[in-house]
Amino acid sequence: MRLRPATMDDAERLFRWRNDPVTRAASVNRDPVAWPDHLAWLEASLANPLRDILIAEDGVPVGTLRLDRDIRTEVSITLAPAARGHGQAAPLLRLATEGKGPYVARIRPDNPASRRAFEAAGFHFTHHAEGMDWFLKP
Ligand SMILES: CC(C)(COP(=O)(O)OP(=O)(O)OC[C@H]1O[C@@H](n2cnc3c(N)ncnc32)[C@H](O)[C@@H]1OP(=O)(O)O)[C@@H](O)C(=O)NCCC(=O)NCCS
Repeated sequence: MRLRPATMDDAERLFRWRNDPVTRAASVNRDPVAWPDHLAWLEASLANPLRDILIAEDGVPVGTLRLDRDIRTEVSITLAPAARGHGQAAPLLRLATEGKGPYVARIRPDNPASRRAFEAAGFHFTHHAEGMDWFLKP
């Protein structure tokens, strides 16, 4: 398993993963994204020095992680639908958070698989705010 920076060539797979109904249900913003908006978002994200969009590969692309660097670095993860349920999220989160912390994550309370994966990667629950559970990896 390895992580590499995303490029515009990943636009289509990122679009599919983002608009997958399970991903949307777990997202902070649950609205479907339109293709032109997605392209504009990806272009801006790749140009943003404070944001990393990573592609996880296991021979083939299996998911994506987003890291937004601020005082804390916010992490989010989406696995390709076919890659879910095989325990791959925790090792990927560990790999992505080997650098200087602290890292934070927002997880919906009705997403136990995500919670468990983040906890296995060293995150712990800190508080609940605006419908989301917040997690911290110091
Ligand atoms: C959430 C997500 C990243 C989890 O990745 P995954 O590798 O498929 O997770 P798994 O199914 O292997 O489950 C992770 C852990 O949660 C446990 N788990 C899964 N479903 C569970 C449930 N309903 N209740 C309790 N625990 C559950 C698993 O047993 C596993 O624990 P273990 O490693 O101790 O056995 C992935 O499903 C995904 O991309 N979902 C859509 C997007 C999303 O929700 N992203 C996170 C937003 S915060």
